[in-house]
Amino acid sequence: MTRLADGKFHSGSELGAGLGITRGAVWNAIRKLSSRGLAVESVPGRGYRLAQPVELLDAERIGGHLVKSSHLLSRLDLLFEVDSTNRYLVQQGMAGTPSGHACLAETQTAGRGRRGRDWVSPLGANLYLSLLWRFNDGPARLAGLSLAVALAMVRAFRGLGIEGIGVKWPNDLLWQGKKVAGVLLEVSGESSGPCQVVIGIGVNIGMRPGTEVGQPWADLQAIQPGLSRNAVAGALLDELLALLATFDATGLRPWLDEWRAVDLYAGRRVVLLLHHREVIGIARGIDADGLLRLETAEGIQRFASGEVSLRGGDDHAAAG
Ligand code: BTN
Repeated sequence: MTRLADGKFHSGSELGAGLGITRGAVWNAIRKLSSRGLAVESVPGRGYRLAQPVELLDAERIGGHLVKSSHLLSRLDLLFEVDSTNRYLVQQGMAGTPSGHACLAETQTAGRGRRGRDWVSPLGANLYLSLLWRFNDGPARLAGLSLAVALAMVRAFRGLGIEGIGVKWPNDLLWQGKKVAGVLLEVSGESSGPCQVVIGIGVNIGMRPGTEVGQPWADLQAIQPGLSRNAVAGALLDELLALLATFDATGLRPWLDEWRAVDLYAGRRVVLLLHHREVIGIARGIDADGLLRLETAEGIQRFASGEVSLRGGDDHAAAG
């Protein structure tokens, strides 16, 4: 993969010699890349090349974008393929890895999304990033962290010149109504003692057209063509580490104004899907703990979880 990443032709014998494998093994490796969704051209007499060059993950290039938080990154693992970067880091956490351990993979075979969904993770196209952090107090202190993570991501994108991305409660990032990134937090530990959080982030950067993920999607390269995956990874880590170093002391409070500024559904008629029922109302932002405020027939109600979608025929409801 590294040798093919430049998008130029490489003969089977050159690839085989470089990797110390037979031409048959090269052929098998090429078939594996194709099965992961990479278009590989094969031309007799010239060899193989990727239809589109790929910018592989690179620790040095990622590190170059950590301008304020590099001291907080304790370890960075770049994996070619893993089932889930979140699962990988949860396990590393159980083995005692310290705060600031990050992991990125070129592809995931069992990427996890929120609410038990899969996260489609094509090879070399997007970002699959997880970051572990330890907190001294129990999970109750983490209310609102996932919302702050989404806001830190919006900051990171702005720092790269990417404007126009907003948030859908609790932590989806949308551009022009379509999902560009999602967040999955996995917390383990005692209810009132120390706990570890693995923050998992999936960002669509260069999705292949036609990729089916079960909901409308957009990618960052549509907003900013030529965007570097390593730059996005570095900028995200920089903002996330800065957030994590302060969240224990501040909670969500310093982020509330920022939420209001990018809250895409504020004042709109929505349906909140809960496990066994739906609630219809007008979204009225969040409270200080990050709970969703819904104006319903019974007045303002607050919710800690659920899936929000715009109600069919929504026009902007009155401000309030
Ligand atoms: C969502 O459903 O919106 C959350 C998606 C989170 C996906 C990321 S990709 C990196 C990390 N590893 C996983 O298995 N999931 C998260």
